[in-house]
Amino acid sequence: MNIVDDHNPIEHFQKWFHEVDTAHPEDEINAMLLSTKGLDGFPKSRIVLLKRFTWEGFIFFTNYNSEKGKAIAQDSKVSLLFNWTRSNREILISGKAEKLPENLSEGYFESRPEGSKLSAWVSNQSKVIASRKILEDRLKEYETKFKSKTIPKPDYWGGYIVKPSQITFVEGDSLVRINRTTKYKLQPDYSWSKDIYYSK
Ligand SMILES: Cc1cc2nc3c(=O)[nH]c(=O)nc-3n(C[C@H](O)[C@H](O)[C@H](O)COP(=O)(O)O)c2cc1C
Repeated sequence: MNIVDDHNPIEHFQKWFHEVDTAHPEDEINAMLLSTKGLDGFPKSRIVLLKRFTWEGFIFFTNYNSEKGKAIAQDSKVSLLFNWTRSNREILISGKAEKLPENLSEGYFESRPEGSKLSAWVSNQSKVIASRKILEDRLKEYETKFKSKTIPKPDYWGGYIVKPSQITFVEGDSLVRINRTTKYKLQPDYSWSKDIYYSK
């Protein structure tokens, strides 16, 4: 079992991310479950991809008009869950989601392949589309519109950074079936408290 001595959960995250990526490079380890308080009051979860993490938080990109975008506008408190089953590890993050500054979303959008850029224009996330044909027609329309041109970022598309207030690392030990949990909590002076405990 790995013991991390530092008091910084982002360093702890970085270490685990690297270890899991090295052990299982074929897994999509940046897939995380984003939970919001749903518009109907029930919690709602869906998978999004972690694209960057910094000392400040965890970044993903989406359609701001999607259901998750509307839910975050109503209540910015969210959780993120990484479940790395093959490494017996999970990480639960609680924090507040903030929109990234436009220039950072634009910078990331520019780095995306053309197909992904077009898909941001084509898809009406969270809305029912009557048929696949409608999507195909819309794709053709935008391919023609942006032919030989730089594809701009739609206004409604961009990133969120989830700034954590609590990060919990859980590592299962399959031999003795006991979990080692390390819980970090952000303190009023912006330092992190750290507690380690074992549970079944
Ligand atoms: C593997 C995988 C990765 C995904 N990554 C993203 C993502 O990075 N951003 C995103 O907006 N939706 C992503 N989705 C789609 C979301 O899970 C979700 O269906 C969509 O964003 C609509 O969610 P909402 O209606 O709750 O807003 C992904 C889905 C899967 C299966």
